[in-house]
Amino acid sequence: MNITLVGTGYVGLVTGTCFANVGNDVTCLDVDISKIEQLSNGESPFYEPGLSEMMTKCIDDNRLHFTCSKKEAYEHADVIFICVGTPTGAKGECDLSHVFGVADDIAKSSASDRSPLIIVKSTVPVGTTHKVRERIPERMSIANNPEFLREGNAIEDFRRPDRVVCGVDTEGARTVLTKLYAPFVGEGRPLLFFDIPSSEMVKYASNAMLACKISFINEIASLCERNGANIDAVRTGMCADNRIGTAFFRPGIGYGGSCFPKDTLAVMEMGQDANAPCLVNTAVHELNLRQRAWFAQRVIDHFGGSLEGKRIAFWGLAFKPRTDDVRDAPSIDIAKALIERGAEVIGFDPEAAENFSIEVSQIELADDMYAVTSQADALVICTEWPEFGTCSLSKVKGLLNEPLIFDGRNMFDEDTMTKAGFTYYSVGRPTVTQSSNTTANQ
Ligand code: UGA
Repeated sequence: MNITLVGTGYVGLVTGTCFANVGNDVTCLDVDISKIEQLSNGESPFYEPGLSEMMTKCIDDNRLHFTCSKKEAYEHADVIFICVGTPTGAKGECDLSHVFGVADDIAKSSASDRSPLIIVKSTVPVGTTHKVRERIPERMSIANNPEFLREGNAIEDFRRPDRVVCGVDTEGARTVLTKLYAPFVGEGRPLLFFDIPSSEMVKYASNAMLACKISFINEIASLCERNGANIDAVRTGMCADNRIGTAFFRPGIGYGGSCFPKDTLAVMEMGQDANAPCLVNTAVHELNLRQRAWFAQRVIDHFGGSLEGKRIAFWGLAFKPRTDDVRDAPSIDIAKALIERGAEVIGFDPEAAENFSIEVSQIELADDMYAVTSQADALVICTEWPEFGTCSLSKVKGLLNEPLIFDGRNMFDEDTMTKAGFTYYSVGRPTVTQSSNTTANQ
């Protein structure tokens, strides 16, 4: 099939590359000429494990093309995926100008003898796909097909999805989508067809539910600290109930990234527009912001309210491991809060350091995880990159001015830190105090 993807962000580029990899002829369209040149050389503009390798293979096989020309992108397409961004607007609403702009371009640029299926893959509020329908010629059909891939795991998520969700209102659209996704679905990986508004809602509701689980466990973690309970035990006890499950239930400094924060806001906006306020989502959002502020305050309180003259090292700057993405990363708010109280901040991240320094220009960057701790007064962990969990704690202790760690992702257990001689703050667990070398609630 001839497939065109409009927008070469995470969703567009991964989707296009994975479709090309199973034999389709794929063209990716973007307005950014320098990005198109970079992509044509097989270079991904962001870090995503396995993506550049797969792109290079598909480019070499002449199945994956990149262009800025709308004519070239639209004239032979059987299917056009709209994968452009839907950023949060000034009032928290989902800005759909890019999506509608693409629909208008398709209407203007497509050859009059072709009737491609237009698939909205961008995350859009309910009703948007029908609005796109109104902007494209009658002869074309429309579908909605939300994406569930996770950054850092995007290729695997696309190739082996839990499910593929499609919103259709014609048999023709259903047939095309069935053919497109045949290589990726099968036993235990269903291809689900719904009406278009339900498909749009599945995407928001899924992200909102996952965000809800995270804020919920963080709220319980906070109660645990105040009541002498341990979130690890509480979580184990809860998750033994199959109805609750273990996924997205790790306590920490909250969620970040380009999806959960934006999508919870968009659900709140949808609720306001429909005069049906989304109370759970509002609380989920507020709890997420509170979690970051609380963690920063914990560092400030330890030092008695002022961080003047203190050098604070950061391990992990990305919003999660296996990505260089720092969009809405909790580390940004935490670093800014510490800098505001006078701290000098130095950070290390295996992939995201450069991107982070654009957001927080005052940060000093270090080349490796040990160098960053040298002569620092404390270590703050914001992202659970696996290499941090297997570090030499004795080496870290030797490098820090004081054996003090604030772990926002609960990477270590308290026994290990007690034995290693650290003062160790984590989330929802008793604080390990170095002076007594015993655990105590704080
Ligand atoms: C999320 C969804 O997981 C994808 O299914 C969806 O396709 C994507 O958004 C999207 O809408 O495009 P992503 O933003 O890549 O994917 O990242 P996640 O792995 O979901 O993590 C989001 C945040 O939650 C991270 O900051 C992570 O640290 C945090 N998190 C996750 C926790 O704090 N605790 C957990 O137990 C799990």
